[in-house]
Amino acid sequence: MAILKIARMGHPVLARKADPVPEPTHPEIRRLVRDMVDTMEDAGGTGLAAPQVHVPLRVVIFFVEGERAAREDGEDATGEDARGEDGGVPLTVMINPEIEPLGPEQEAGWEACLSVPELAGQVPRYRRIRYRFTDLEGKPQERIAEGFHARVVQHECDHLDGVLYPQRMTDLKSLVFSSEMRHQGQPEMVD
Ligand code: NI
Repeated sequence: MAILKIARMGHPVLARKADPVPEPTHPEIRRLVRDMVDTMEDAGGTGLAAPQVHVPLRVVIFFVEGERAAREDGEDATGEDARGEDGGVPLTVMINPEIEPLGPEQEAGWEACLSVPELAGQVPRYRRIRYRFTDLEGKPQERIAEGFHARVVQHECDHLDGVLYPQRMTDLKSLVFSSEMRHQGQPEMVD
């Protein structure tokens, strides 16, 4: 078990485009993912991208708690995506992921980031996406996501292109300290 140091906004590794992983089944990738899971669990995040632990490779991990997905997506979630019966998405390891928006519709939601500590902001994201990736066994995977699930995937994949959520914000007025968010009625957010 290894908990890795998390890079914060301003470190160049978060601003560059990460490199594709040529060999997803390589033992070094498996070890990196294990350390990323330990680090994400220790930090209490919902996702983590390799550049956040100073590794400029296209590797992302995330999960969505069922209770949380249900709460944030409401009853109009169709359930035709990768989510389980409770609306959650189990821990997913994505190597070389790619996102394709399904329709132009975007919606704003609160996000936070382990690399931008103590802050939160409202970020517009595509409501529905298709995403593809290679798993740790080297197999290609494809999923449809919407709502909170789609938001998490877009946030994490942005890290692979050197983009942090404040760069996606259209109104910096909603960039706030998380500790002040009680004034906003404790909104739920990606972290
Ligand atoms: Ni982040």
